[in-house]
Amino acid sequence: MYKIVKKQTLNNAVELMEIHAPFVARKCEPGQFIIIRVDEDGERIPLTIADYDREKETVTIIYQVVGYSTDLLSKKQEGDYVQDFVGPLGVPAVLEKKENKVIGVAGGVGAAPLYPQLRKLAAMGTKVDVIIGGKSAEYVLLADQFKEFCENVYIATDDGSLGTKGFVTTVLQDLLDKGEVYDECIAIGPLIMMKNVVNVTRPLNLHTMVSLNPIMIDGTGMCGGCRVTVDGETKFACVDGPDFDGFKVDFDECMRRQGIFKEEEHQCKIGRGAK
Ligand SMILES: Cc1cc2nc3c(=O)[nH]c(=O)nc-3n(C[C@H](O)[C@H](O)[C@H](O)COP(=O)(O)OP(=O)(O)OC[C@H]3O[C@@H](n4cnc5c(N)ncnc54)[C@H](O)[C@@H]3O)c2cc1C
Ligand code: FES
Repeated sequence: MYKIVKKQTLNNAVELMEIHAPFVARKCEPGQFIIIRVDEDGERIPLTIADYDREKETVTIIYQVVGYSTDLLSKKQEGDYVQDFVGPLGVPAVLEKKENKVIGVAGGVGAAPLYPQLRKLAAMGTKVDVIIGGKSAEYVLLADQFKEFCENVYIATDDGSLGTKGFVTTVLQDLLDKGEVYDECIAIGPLIMMKNVVNVTRPLNLHTMVSLNPIMIDGTGMCGGCRVTVDGETKFACVDGPDFDGFKVDFDECMRRQGIFKEEEHQCKIGRGAK
């Protein structure tokens, strides 16, 4: 059992939890994820490691309440326990010092997995900028935390309530049109957002890494649930990723496969009856 040592509400759909998980905290690196089971009847769901503290032996997760299991997790409070917290899983992000700058692009809860990656790059001496997008001001996550190490924090909201009115790609295109030079782009968010970021960066040959979030079941490369096509080859996001070269990802296939269990998810009968 793993103790929830801190719980914080970030907006009406997104929460942060710090979990006491000594083994994961000791080993994890930016880009990796855990699989959590809230209670003994629960399903296994993957969540990215948003932060970690090796001394306190804690791992931070930031999750959006979208369905049965994230709702179950949300009902837990500080001092409660979760049943399983398995990890670190996946390949750590390849983060190397760059000569110019790196631009991070985050959509919604994608700010959580992006945060430790940019922070590590900054700690290595790379200059970093970030564009954070959300539906409206309250859905823009971690802006203050990014300000601690980013040279520029750009914000885009769909309704214009904060920063530029429009998508993160609007801001990215503007920066590139103005002549900003970046060595790399790291984009994390909904598949459609990452696909559109790649559409902006590809013409400039700006190397772009993306983080894929297909349906995962075992998280160990055994079930094939997280199959994605990268550069024409089959990869399993749980063991070969979740980070991949965005120019090589078949986003359309990912989007089709992500929706295949939609009906079943919403009729889930695990433990506490149907939703
Ligand atoms: C590597 C990885 C890292 C992730 N990191 C985060 C994160 O840091 N924060 C966050 O909010 N979300 C993250 N997700 C998505 C998260 O796993 C889903 O939101 C969660 O599983 C939803 O479960 P549910 O029962 O609440 O909702 P459901 O109603 O069951 O599903 C809602 C949607 O969540 C997705 N989903 C459901 N089950 C799974 C599953 N087993 N594996 C992957 N996706 C699933 C599907 O797109 C589905 O349509 C990540 C997914 C992956 C693969
Ligand atoms: S989740 Fe089963 S192979 Fe990746």
